[in-house]
Parts: sequence; C-alpha cells; structure tokens
Amino acid sequence: SILIIDFGSQVTQLIARRLREAGVYCEIHPFQNAAPAFEKLQPKGVIFSGGPASVTDVGSPRAPQAVFDSGVPILAICYGQQTLALQQGGEVEGGHAAEFGRAEVEILEASPLFEGFWEVGSRYPVWMSHGDRVTQLPPGFKVVGTSENAPFAIAVNEDRRYYTTMFHPEVVHTPDGAKLLSNFAHNIVGLKSDWTMSAYREQMIEKIRKQVGKGRVLCALSGGVDSAVAAVLIHEAIGDQLTCVFVDHGLMRQNEGDQVVTLFREHFNIPLISVDAADLFIGKLEGVKDPETKRKIIGGLFIDVFDAEAKKIASDGKGAPEFLAQGTLYPDVIESVSFSGGPSVTIKSHHNVGGLPARMNMKLVEPLRELFKDEVRALGRELGLPDSFVGRHPFPGPGLAIRLPGGVTREKLDILRKADAIYLDEIRKAGLYDTIWQAFAVLLPVQTVGVMGDGRTYDSVLALRAVTSVDGMTADFFPYDMNFLGRAATRIINEVKGINRVVYDVTSKPPGTIEWE
Ligand code: XMP
Repeated sequence: SILIIDFGSQVTQLIARRLREAGVYCEIHPFQNAAPAFEKLQPKGVIFSGGPASVTDVGSPRAPQAVFDSGVPILAICYGQQTLALQQGGEVEGGHAAEFGRAEVEILEASPLFEGFWEVGSRYPVWMSHGDRVTQLPPGFKVVGTSENAPFAIAVNEDRRYYTTMFHPEVVHTPDGAKLLSNFAHNIVGLKSDWTMSAYREQMIEKIRKQVGKGRVLCALSGGVDSAVAAVLIHEAIGDQLTCVFVDHGLMRQNEGDQVVTLFREHFNIPLISVDAADLFIGKLEGVKDPETKRKIIGGLFIDVFDAEAKKIASDGKGAPEFLAQGTLYPDVIESVSFSGGPSVTIKSHHNVGGLPARMNMKLVEPLRELFKDEVRALGRELGLPDSFVGRHPFPGPGLAIRLPGGVTREKLDILRKADAIYLDEIRKAGLYDTIWQAFAVLLPVQTVGVMGDGRTYDSVLALRAVTSVDGMTADFFPYDMNFLGRAATRIINEVKGINRVVYDVTSKPPGTIEWE
C-alpha cells in the first residue's frame, strides 16, 4: 500500500483516487497522525500532499522522521516538496504570493518518474502552485524538470528514490499526472494492480463475518445507493443475521420507496421491514416553514421510528441486534486537516441514516469505509445491483421536504413529485442523466399569473436545478441547451396541474448550496 500524508491541500483526495484508479490501495492520514499511521500501515511508498501553510512559518507541519529512516520511496508534491527539501538539508524561501495555475514543465533529464511518456527536451502542461520556493536543493538531489517560474519543478534523488514536484500531478489539469502517479506506484514502489472490486468484495465478506460472528445486524436503508450496497454485501456475508429496515417517510421521489422494497425482497430475496410512516412525518411537518426546523423534525422522527422498530426486532426471540450497519464512505472518514482549529459554521444539519449511531448505542459495521462514491457504484454492480439503481443521483435524507420552501403539504408533495419525475424523464431521454451529478425540481411558494388556452391561471412556480460536482462540496450549475429547458418546461406545465411557470437555477456552489434548504 501507499500512505498519503495530508498537509491540508484541497486536492489531497484526488491523489488517492488516481492511485485507486491505478489499482493500488492507499490511505490518507493527516500529518498530525502520520507517524502512527506509517507504523500501522507499513506502506511500501509514501506521498506528501500539498498544503496551505508555509514551511518557513514556525510550527508549520513536517513529515515524520521515521518515513525518511525507513528507506521507502517518497513522492512529494508542492508543500510536500518544500518540507522534504527542508528536512533533507535544502533551503526554502518564503514570501512568494500563492498562485495556482497552468504552466509548462521542460524535461531536462530522464527519470523513472515519467519514463514512457515525457521526453527529454520537450515541454508538457502541468498545474502549478507557487508560494514558497526551494532555493537550494538538499545534497544528492538534481533538477530533472524546470519551468519558467519554478526552476525546481521536478527535483529527484534517484539513489534514495525521492521524487518531488512543485506541480500537482493529481489534478486533471496536469493531463499526464495520472500516469506519473501510476509510474510512481508501479515502477518505483513496485506495487501490483491488485485493488479490484472483486478482491475487495471477498476481503470484506471475510472481515464482516469475523467482526459479527453469530451476532445480529440491523441496517437502515435510505433508498440511496450507499446503504443498499452495504446491506447487499453484508447479506452476502452473514445471510439472515441481517435485518433491513426501510422507513418510508413519504418524502421520496416517485416510485422510489417501491423500487427499494422490490429490489430487496424480490431481486435479492433479502427480508426487509418497510415502515410506512408518511402520515406521521407529513403531519408533524404541517405548517413548518423554517428549513432547519424541518431538518430537525425529520431527523428526530426517523430515529424514533427506527428505534421503535429495533425494539420490536429485539423482542422477536432471536436475540437483540448488537450491530448497526452503515453506508459510511471514505470521504466521511478522512479526518480533515485543520489549521485554525476554530469552530466551523453549521450550514445545514444533515439528516441521513448515518445519523443513527449517536442515539442507538450499537457497534458499527461499515463495509464501505474505504471506498469513494464511484467505487461504491462499482462494488454495487459487482454485487449485481441494477445499473439504474447504482447510477442514481444522490438524494438527501430529508427528501422532498427540503425542496418545498414555505412548508410541506400532501398536495404540494404530489405536485412536486410529478414535476420532478417528468424533469428526470426528459434528462434521461436527452442522455444527460449520467453527466449530471444531481438534478431535481423545487416547488416555490410563489404564484404568478399565466394564460392557458383562453383562461387566466394563477399557479405555482417550479424551479429546476442541475449541477455537476465531484463530491457535492462544490458544484457548478449544468449548462443545458436552451431547447432542452424549453422542452422540459412545456411538458411540466402541460402535464402537472398547479404549475404555470418554470425557471432554471444558475447558481453554483458556493455561493449557493445544491439543495435550496
Ligand atoms: P448542499 O445542499 O449542502 O448539499 O449543497 C450537498 C449534497 O448533500 C446532499 N444533502 C444531504 N444528504 N442528508 C443527506 O443524506 C441531508 O440532510 C442532506 N442535505 C443535503 C445534497 O443533496 C447534495 O448531494
């Protein structure tokens, strides 16, 4: 494996993704925990990430000495390059304005790092970040690549197998970066491509059996991909020791609840308890306008309903479940590197089935903890989940309730559900579904005047949203062709009673969020 030491760069996760894509297992650990992580993981190679600090600042992060002492190969990127240079006896000058941008690197000498795709004497595009700059290389290092503003764009010590770049190979703006990372992992560190989904499936099944023994596991299905994949995998490992519970809060998209129930009961033959709690949820939401209050009501009710179900299951004579299964993913697990240490602002209090453990007092089974979203999808396919299910857009725990600003009623839910289904149908017909991270409709508490046939209408406005994103943390609005928007709007207004106007949301995140509430 490879250990990635995180110095706080915004793009550290991309290093892991590129390595996983190359079939290599790796883990990210923040610099504060790098020494114990190195000891525990015993990696064959280490990568230092970039980071926002300046190595010239007092107390700025360093790599553990043990990494250097061990003799494993190192790839050090950006901030990583600077701390490596400093720790190996070089010099770094601070005070340059931090800047992130396109540059060209000229290759001066051959190196195993870019063997096979970069040639001496040629120039290649890279994504550079300037801030501090190495001014004196440590002993044993030489420059093999340079650029206009970064004389030490690539500096290496071939004897010790230390490779340092001032640019970021992990971002797509360095077109050959993935090859560079793969070269490091395969040719320099010597790892094989053995991180595959079928290998992972086997490993996890063994691990789940070992953890759970003869115990019982409860799993809350949300209707989404993560909890479904986790449940199917766990069922494969322990069969009937798993009980799945699906709380239908009545805030799902069209047919979504039925699909989950059919998928589990009929397709996989996994017993599933489905609780119809729509009346309870919608009743409690009636008249509530404040987004945070809505979120808290839904999160609280969900736990109450699930807890009541868990108690029933515990008294069925087969023993009380000790384990709770969760579809936690790797991005939720990675400890973020914090420099300020200050409290962060709550933008939205999230509700999802992952919110259960604090109240349930059960041991967790989290078979997806090591996976990125796209890997979970691949594992889902490997396990035989249908493509249409695995490829679903993310859907928030509070469901359609947070797409009804102004308050939830059954009538508004029905209107929104119909309009949303037509919108998604048009997206699928246009072949755009998989290009978009998430698309949905929002029914506004605003009525406007329209004319249909010979009559005046005074009906609601529907907003359409579609975004591209890699992780939901930042997003861009999707640049539809206007004809598409026109088509979707016409169909919605013609087919859904209660809507007479459609608008498109062109806000990115930040400053907007993806959901409206
Ligand atoms: P925002 O609206 O914060 O959303 O930009 C980012 C991503 O998170 C989803 N989302 C949620 N998911 N429970 C969830 O499981 C929630 O309470 C929740 N709120 C937002 C949102 O759909 C988007 O994918």
